[in-house]
Amino acid sequence: MSVTVRVPAKVNVQLGVAAARPDGFHDLANVFLAVGLYDEVTVTPADELRVTCAGPDAASVPLDRTNLAARAALALAERRGIEPAVHLHIAKDIPVAGGMAGGSADGAGALVACDALWGTGASRAELLDICAELGSDVPFSLVGGAALGTGRGEKLAPLEVGGTFHWVFAMAERGLSTPAVFREFDRLTAGREIPAPEADPALLTALSKGDPEALAAALTNDLQPAALSLYPELAATLKTGEQAGALATLVSGSGPTTAFLVPDATTATRVATALQDSGTCRTTRTAAGPVPGATVL
Ligand code: C5P
Repeated sequence: MSVTVRVPAKVNVQLGVAAARPDGFHDLANVFLAVGLYDEVTVTPADELRVTCAGPDAASVPLDRTNLAARAALALAERRGIEPAVHLHIAKDIPVAGGMAGGSADGAGALVACDALWGTGASRAELLDICAELGSDVPFSLVGGAALGTGRGEKLAPLEVGGTFHWVFAMAERGLSTPAVFREFDRLTAGREIPAPEADPALLTALSKGDPEALAAALTNDLQPAALSLYPELAATLKTGEQAGALATLVSGSGPTTAFLVPDATTATRVATALQDSGTCRTTRTAAGPVPGATVL
């Protein structure tokens, strides 16, 4: 017997970042949109906890207990006083260290899969609690759709979305570490007064109307200067997408994946081809959102 859970990637359509808190985390106004690029986590009974991974980026996925999928299984097993004796297999399609919450997706997927396999019957609230312990973006991977994340991003309020938004994503040659990007944000903003970030009303209206032009005008990412500072080559990728007809360009979360909002699927294909041909990225993917969060298949 095994259980498979499919979990989407995310793009942040607004990432407002406050100054570092005493605990080192940053309060956020984080507007998440789940997009149709997925990891699948399959859990099967085994003698002991084991993680395997397949997919284009599999070689850079840790298979030990630092993997968020393993940590999710351990967290649920510990709460129930049971042995986490499972094989977790991750079919990975979300880029690794890309700013698209691939690790978080695996954490949320493993949690939902183990809950179903073990019949632990955890409530939604308990699952969300465990997700928040695992990482700031993990609760959103569970719920999907679109949501405003406050606190360090883990406190979620669902958002209305009145249509489908089309995107192209350009994967970079190497990854960026999220803590390193936040540290660079701290360095670049040192000595500056940073106002408390708030969700942009124009952006929320654009989402609720399903209006890509209005969303394009409102996209912001306070981590983008930090990501570009650590990875200057991304500027050429953004420029290529803009020239190819994207409505707006943006670094996805802490990067280095770059995101291109386009009016429709046809333009998505054209922009993806231009990016691919330019040699300014490793590979491209097209995806639309919003899509549902972690789903048992
Ligand atoms: O919560 P998560 O483990 O995903 O965060 C990874 C790292 O990103 C944190 O250790 C911290 O350095 C940084 N971070 C932050 N503020 C947030 C979320 C993450 O500084 N709101």
